[in-house]
Amino acid sequence: MNILVTGGAGYIGSHTCVAILQAGHMVIVADNLFNSKAETIDEIKKITGKDVVFHKADMTDEAAVDEIFRSHKLDGVIHFAGFKAVGESVEKPLNYYYNNLVSTMVLAKACLRHGVKRFVFSSSATVYGDNAIPYVETMKLQPTTNPYGETKAMSERILTDIAKANPDFFVSLLRYFNPVGAHESGLIGESPNGIPNNLMPYVTQVAKGKLKKLRVFGNDYPTVDGTGVRDYIHVMDLAEGHVVAVENLTEGVHVYNLGTGQGTSVLQLVKAFEEANNIEIPYEIVGRRPGDLPEYYADAGKAKLELDWTAKHDIFDMCRDAWRFEKNYQE
Ligand code: NAD
Ligand code: UD1
Repeated sequence: MNILVTGGAGYIGSHTCVAILQAGHMVIVADNLFNSKAETIDEIKKITGKDVVFHKADMTDEAAVDEIFRSHKLDGVIHFAGFKAVGESVEKPLNYYYNNLVSTMVLAKACLRHGVKRFVFSSSATVYGDNAIPYVETMKLQPTTNPYGETKAMSERILTDIAKANPDFFVSLLRYFNPVGAHESGLIGESPNGIPNNLMPYVTQVAKGKLKKLRVFGNDYPTVDGTGVRDYIHVMDLAEGHVVAVENLTEGVHVYNLGTGQGTSVLQLVKAFEEANNIEIPYEIVGRRPGDLPEYYADAGKAKLELDWTAKHDIFDMCRDAWRFEKNYQE
């Protein structure tokens, strides 16, 4: 298959390009490099020994997107391109609604115009909101508390309605839990701008000495040790999930959780990181971060049943691979 990967120079997109190429498909990347670098495309080629077509293009630009669809005979689209910082989305809601929703609509329109049937969308566990755990795909979604989360819930709805009206438009909505880690080569990984908001990149920067100590946001939650619990998933497992999703996509709308089904607390992750890499992570307990939920993880049963997909890497693999990338390749 020829797969268009929007946002393919970014963190999850680049790992997914590797997995798609290794599964024997062709990859066309379209990315405006707003939050990524063109060199990542070279790293993808280096890891796989395969060629990648790259278009520097904005997915909200209808003419540019149409040009890409005209110049390749596409079999499917995996749509990663978007903004993803929760806090920033509260400060700049219009940017988030515009970029995340318009890109989704422009791409869907191009698919209908050019007869491209398969559309895989990057959604997030954030659409479940404050729900019972584990999160199951059949749950009624709760309103999210920030514009970023709303763009994911709205995109899901838009794509669902388009698929209902167009039987030749097949949609897979992939709800990611907490992607961490890096490709085992250490050539690609997560490079957040500025001080990281998320736990794993913060921990790797503390390990490197770029940041002094981790601040643990609350130890008074009703969890195993009082700290927040999440379902961390190795980014290469997530990438494989996209390959099987696009390969097996059939008529209708299919929703899958991509998680391990396993919860890990902040302190458990810190301990795993220390053990996996033999590095001490200094930390202090501070107050809760506003908007954080105590605990959530996936029911990962549906992806196993229907796609025969399960996450293979454990928390130690995630910590080891995240550190290898930070240690070797980050400034
Ligand atoms: P990322 O920022 O590393 O990658 C996104 C890529 O999209 C970047 O390369 C950026 O330059 C590009 N981009 C943004 N807007 C664009 C546009 N209009 N046109 C073309 N390119 C554009 O982020 P990521 O972590 O790889 O996330 C990928 C997707 O997965 C996003 O949609 C994100 O919301 C979703 N997601 C991420 C997480 C996570 O924890 N990383 C969790 C759930 C869902
Ligand atoms: C965040 C996003 C969520 C997104 C997800 C993807 C918020 C509110 N939510 O989720 O929308 O889908 O990333 O990965 O930003 N923690 C610390 N110290 C830190 C950083 C985090 O203790 O410096 C704790 C948090 O309180 C939480 C856990 O670590 O309990 C994980 O946090 P984080 O990596 O930011 O992910 P989420 O909050 O789950």
